[in-house]
Amino acid sequence: MTRHSPLDMDPEEFRAAGHQLINQIADFYKALPHAQVTSGQTPSQVRAVLGDAKLPEVPEANDGIVQHAWALLEKHSLHNGHPRFAGYVTSSAAPIGALAELMAAAVNPNVGAWILGPIGTEIEAQCVKWIADFLDYPADCGGVLVSGGTMANFVGFLAARTHACPSIRAEGVRAARLVVYASKETHTWVQKAADMFGLGTNAIRWIPADSQQRMEPAALSHQIQLDRAQGFQPFLIAATAGTVSTGAVDPIRALSAIAKAEGLWLHIDGAYGAPAAALPGADEDLRSLHLANSIAVDPHKWFYAPLEAGCALVKNAQHLPDTFDYSPAYYHFDADAPLNYYQHGPQNSRGFRALKVWMGLRAAGRQGLIQTIADDIALARQLFDEVQKHPALEALTTGLSITTFRYNPPGVADINTLNERLLDRIQKSGELFLSNAIIDGKFALRACIVNFRTQPADIAAIPRLVLKIAESL
Ligand SMILES: Cc1ncc(COP(=O)(O)O)c(C=O)c1O
Repeated sequence: MTRHSPLDMDPEEFRAAGHQLINQIADFYKALPHAQVTSGQTPSQVRAVLGDAKLPEVPEANDGIVQHAWALLEKHSLHNGHPRFAGYVTSSAAPIGALAELMAAAVNPNVGAWILGPIGTEIEAQCVKWIADFLDYPADCGGVLVSGGTMANFVGFLAARTHACPSIRAEGVRAARLVVYASKETHTWVQKAADMFGLGTNAIRWIPADSQQRMEPAALSHQIQLDRAQGFQPFLIAATAGTVSTGAVDPIRALSAIAKAEGLWLHIDGAYGAPAAALPGADEDLRSLHLANSIAVDPHKWFYAPLEAGCALVKNAQHLPDTFDYSPAYYHFDADAPLNYYQHGPQNSRGFRALKVWMGLRAAGRQGLIQTIADDIALARQLFDEVQKHPALEALTTGLSITTFRYNPPGVADINTLNERLLDRIQKSGELFLSNAIIDGKFALRACIVNFRTQPADIAAIPRLVLKIAESL
């Protein structure tokens, strides 16, 4: 008896459906600059498009499913690859990454163990080496790809926690009074980490930032002394290279000196900003990533990989297995397998996210990446300059590829509420997509350019579009 499953697909049927889809995706890329950034539909409108059909009882035709899914995605998505998408820190995705995802899913290696993903494991290891090399981080570091910046920061956090308190893996956090130091500009990953890994968010010491949103070293030193005097156990300084709101880079050299003097782990959240360290003329603190015990960097941000791809690097490679390794009896893997990633990170089964990163890095090359990142930064500066030409707009900050500004016409009492309403309109307009930042209590419009499709003309259009939309308020 031969078994037939509806999940198998006849190769000729796959070929036909795939060819058609690839043609449609190529047309999508071509049309993107002239399309709307988003349809701006409400949740109920989007839900209505999908309908409330029940799980089908019987198989549906593959080509129909593919075509339906593509139509939904094309018409009802927010297109972060659009040249005038400049929200959050979400990059345009290199098209070669889409081809990589197709290949990775077709072969479907499990990059949790070498034997289950031989070439996958080797490609991931090479990819991690290339990323470390690009950041000028020691070549013998350890590293692992994870789903994004939050997860990559978790890896650094956990490695630091285990290093400070090795018994914690067996005994939990019961007795420890661990505390972590982060500037008030730190991304919310640190709250999730303190909460999820048992310290509680009260274990975070929020260190003030200076007028340029950088952690204040003197305030950090002072807080560490206070904590020690009260019997707490400081273990981690969580610095940021490229803050989420304004692109600020913490004073890494000064923080490293404090970490060394105090015997603390220095982790750098470079999820967004770390790749800019490779640029000629980069800020000296940004070029000091090698001082960190661990780094988070996100290929799905400034390496333009499709979501999801984050990367954690630890200076001493042994810290990853020290933190994550268990060797259960049901894994009878070769004792001399070169690398089993399940022992080096939080995941067990792992997909082949490395392929899209590895292929994207090759497609750009070091020089191509540096040029693209430098262009993004130049475009953010261009926006800062353009904004200043308009009296009703107020430029606030520019750092790395983030520029913040606000609409500030004369005679308006509540500028913050006005800008909140304006942002809402901008986000739904389909013409442009910005996000927000709060800077010294000011609600700012925020453009973050991690987008190889954005052109100088798109930047020149932003003040005009913002003012046009503001008039409609
Ligand atoms: C500085 C910084 N850290 C961490 C993150 C979190 O990254 P992810 O959204 O990939 O988890 C972000 C996201 O924008 C970020 O900008």
